[in-house]
Parts: sequence; structure tokens; C-alpha cells
Amino acid sequence: MPRSSKALQQKPSSLTDDQGWTHVIRGAHNIRKPTKTPSLNDSPNISPAKVTEGQQRYAALWSSSACCHQLRMILEQEIPLTHNLQMDKCVCLGLGSFTDGRTSSKHQLATLTWMLGILSQKHTFQAVLFQDPAFTASDVAYLESLGHHVLESPLAFDQIDESTFLFAPHLEANVYAAALEKKVPALVVGSNVTELIGRPISSGVDEAQRVRENSIFCCFSDLTLSEPMPQYDRDTWCYYTNIYRRQDMRSERSCDHS
Ligand SMILES: C[S@@+](CC[C@H](N)C(=O)[O-])C[C@H]1O[C@@H](n2cnc3c(N)ncnc32)[C@H](O)[C@@H]1O
Repeated sequence: MPRSSKALQQKPSSLTDDQGWTHVIRGAHNIRKPTKTPSLNDSPNISPAKVTEGQQRYAALWSSSACCHQLRMILEQEIPLTHNLQMDKCVCLGLGSFTDGRTSSKHQLATLTWMLGILSQKHTFQAVLFQDPAFTASDVAYLESLGHHVLESPLAFDQIDESTFLFAPHLEANVYAAALEKKVPALVVGSNVTELIGRPISSGVDEAQRVRENSIFCCFSDLTLSEPMPQYDRDTWCYYTNIYRRQDMRSERSCDHS
């Protein structure tokens, strides 16, 4: 029986470091959960119950869409036929604040929540981790009310491994590269890396950094299979977004970007 992220509410052991941060250690993944309130963006305080009410509308829009239906076929039929994906953790990067009026973030959260429900039929997610410096206190309170964890950047990057489902729509290229630099996750929803490799170099961009990012994206592309997200008629967020899956789940192949 798969464990939902709610099941993570059990009492973990913890460590407090010399700066006063409490790091929660959970199972094999040593997931660190900062319990000191990080410097969150100012915004009106919205209760988790109020956010839930709003999210229900986005969830209903999503689940009645053709995009949802097509994604279900991909997740339940297409990918399992060719790939024995193994996932035990979800990392969500750069969702943006969904209590700050951003519609795309609300749509993305509705899709992510739905995907976790579908994937949990076959996979046991030990943790669902979020990282975005733009989160408000209300975002954090809502995510934590669902049993998820919000990490301070850059802690979430270190949690990404071959058993991760990475949900990272429309990340800035440098943040996306940092997420993909060390390990190739099992499943990724994120920007089309081919578009990023071909992007023009604009002024003020460090060329060596750009070469490094392109090397990360090329390697990631080599080690995965991808297809475009089905298009969503209620929002534009699925544009330029792909679903990637690791090509060979048995191998720990990765790239050297040093
Ligand atoms: C282009 S916005 C995309 C927001 C939303 N996903 C969307 O599609 O509308 C990129 C997001 O990445 C976030 N971000 C920046 N640095 C980050 C980091 N180190 N880790 C996670 N997210 C980060 C930004 O705060 C912002 O919310």
C-alpha cells in the first residue's frame, strides 16, 4: 500500500546546527527541514483552509481537461510499458507563490498534486519537498498542512537523485542546470532543454557558465527520453515543457561536468 506524503507526519529525529536551524533526518534520505522561519516574502496571511478552497477550483479545471486525460495515458500506460521507473521522492522547484495572485503557479500545483496521486498508485513517496525563494508564509503554511516540506535554497538540489520525480516548470536556466547537474532524476517535468541549449547569449552572461549549463542540458538530454507535455487549454504553462524519463533505470550513468 503506497504511503502518501501525509504519512510523513511521524516524529522524526532532528539535529540543530550552530546557526540555530533544526535539520530533520528522515529515513535514508537525510531530508533537512528548516524549522526556523526563513526570510519569507511579505504578503497577507491566507489560511491553509482558504488556500485549499481556491486550489479546489484549479484542481477541478485540471481534472476535467483533455490535457489531464492525455497525461494520465502517458503516466499509467505509456511510460510503465517501456520503463520500470522507481521513485521514492518528489522535489518541486520554482513553483512560484500561489498565494500571491500567480495563476500559473496555482495551475501547476493542481497538476503536481494530481500527478502525485496517480504516481502513488505504484510508487511510495517518502517525501515531497518544495523550494522557491519566492514562497510567502502562506505558501509554506499550506504546503506544510499537506505534510510536504519546504526547504531553503540550495538544500533541495542535494536531495535530487535517480529515484526522484522532479517537477520544475519554467525554471531559470541556471537553477534548472543546478538541479540536473549531479544526478539524472527518474522523471522530470521541466523546460525543454533543447530550447535552452539553443538560446542566444545575451549581454552580461558569463560565457563559461553558459557552456557549463549547456553541457549539463546535453548530458541530461542524452540520458533521457522525452515528449512534450500535452497542451492545456486553461493556461499556458505547458508550453515549452517536456516530460523526461531516464533511459536506463538500472544504470547510475551520469555526466562529468568538471
Ligand atoms: C520563471 S519563474 C516560474 C514560476 C512558475 N513555475 C511559473 O511557471 O509561472 C521561476 C521561479 O523559480 C524560482 N527560483 C529562483 N531561484 C530558485 C532556487 N534556487 N530554487 C528554487 N526556485 C528558484 C523563482 O523564485 C521563480 O518563482
